Amino acid sequence: MSESITQLAGKHVLLGLSGGIACYKVAELTRLLIKSGATVQVMMSEAATQFITPVTMQALSNRPVLLSQWDAREPNNMAHINATRAADVMLVAPASADFIAKLAQGRADELLSLTALARPAQSCPLLVAPAMNREMWAHPATQRNVAQIRADGAFVLGPGNGDQACGEFGDGRMLEAAELRDELIAFFQPKLLAGKKVLITAGPTFEPIDPVRGITNLSSGKMGFSIARAAAEAGAQVTLVAGPVHLPTPRGVQRRIDVQTAQQMYDAVLPQAAAQDIVVATAAVADWRPAQMNEHKIKKQDGQKAAPLFELTENPDILAAVAAAVDQSKTFCVGFAAESQDLAQHARAKLAKKGVPLIVGNLGPATFGRDDNALLLVDAKGERAIPNGDKLSLARELVREIAARITKKTTTP
Ligand code: C5P
Repeated sequence: MSESITQLAGKHVLLGLSGGIACYKVAELTRLLIKSGATVQVMMSEAATQFITPVTMQALSNRPVLLSQWDAREPNNMAHINATRAADVMLVAPASADFIAKLAQGRADELLSLTALARPAQSCPLLVAPAMNREMWAHPATQRNVAQIRADGAFVLGPGNGDQACGEFGDGRMLEAAELRDELIAFFQPKLLAGKKVLITAGPTFEPIDPVRGITNLSSGKMGFSIARAAAEAGAQVTLVAGPVHLPTPRGVQRRIDVQTAQQMYDAVLPQAAAQDIVVATAAVADWRPAQMNEHKIKKQDGQKAAPLFELTENPDILAAVAAAVDQSKTFCVGFAAESQDLAQHARAKLAKKGVPLIVGNLGPATFGRDDNALLLVDAKGERAIPNGDKLSLARELVREIAARITKKTTTP
């Protein structure tokens, strides 16, 4: 998925490191944040300096690292005040068990915890990425402290699950650098779909002819996955029903159901449709499937010239079935139209054919498999073009559009 370099443009991140072996990942995180357009001020606890040097962190962030509350370089000698007033967010990664305990108690006996306490909560929210051994994470004291810092307004990112530096396996790994960067990007997105349930279909379908062959298409799933990510960033509970694609599940997507055929996609989507606030059908569903699937590979017979003939049968139209099954005053349905020409005309025809209030047109050959696209929003009243851009930016714009429409629907009598 394309990552625009401007995702964190204009954001100033106060990046705090407490002690832990996961400090090594923060070198990469610093690079990624800066590559995304952020400026980064690093602050380290004394324990953190045992794991990675301030020299490394200064070189990567291009700023002197803050190490002590008695730092005489600060004209007013108040690093804990200055750093938080300039920042849009304070991210502590790694956050050790000890640091979380300090936060929970409101202690302020060294620069990092002092700074977290001195933050203006509104303008400098606190994000915390725990990193510790699984027993430390599972300990009731840590769990109590994590619950307390959440109650006090901190956002806890992760931890992940997996191999640990100590050789054990379990919960407590710090999220990877790219995951933390994506969490930060998501954090800054407006929560336009907070609490909404959104189901998205994505990718192609694959209709088997025999165990090794089938009918499919060039859809990569990138547009649908970008919409899933954008909806999750906007605070929605997202279910992603995906045909065969090679894409990782976007962070924040609650549930992913992988399917192969149109019938499987239909079976996965229909029972859940009525419970959704929004259904977006981006999948390029095969219109037909072989009427029979051959149990074994169809073989070329020696001397036989004629190619085998396949009888095709029509697949169910998932979007039309959803639109007919749900109460459309509660579930907002959006379809896609992938065309090769006359986009507006075909998209408009699809509004009626599918029975949905919004169709998003795009030129299939120009976008399948690519990281960019251009959209044409068509509804009963007119059209709006969203010009060419990366798919995530387009997806966010579409989410804004859908959020505005459902808000209007619920607020106008
Ligand atoms: O009819 P057409 O395939 O052009 O319609 C495209 C729209 O309908 C897309 O939103 C697609 O996801 C959806 N669709 C579907 N089930 C089908 C065919 C299309 O949900 N069998």
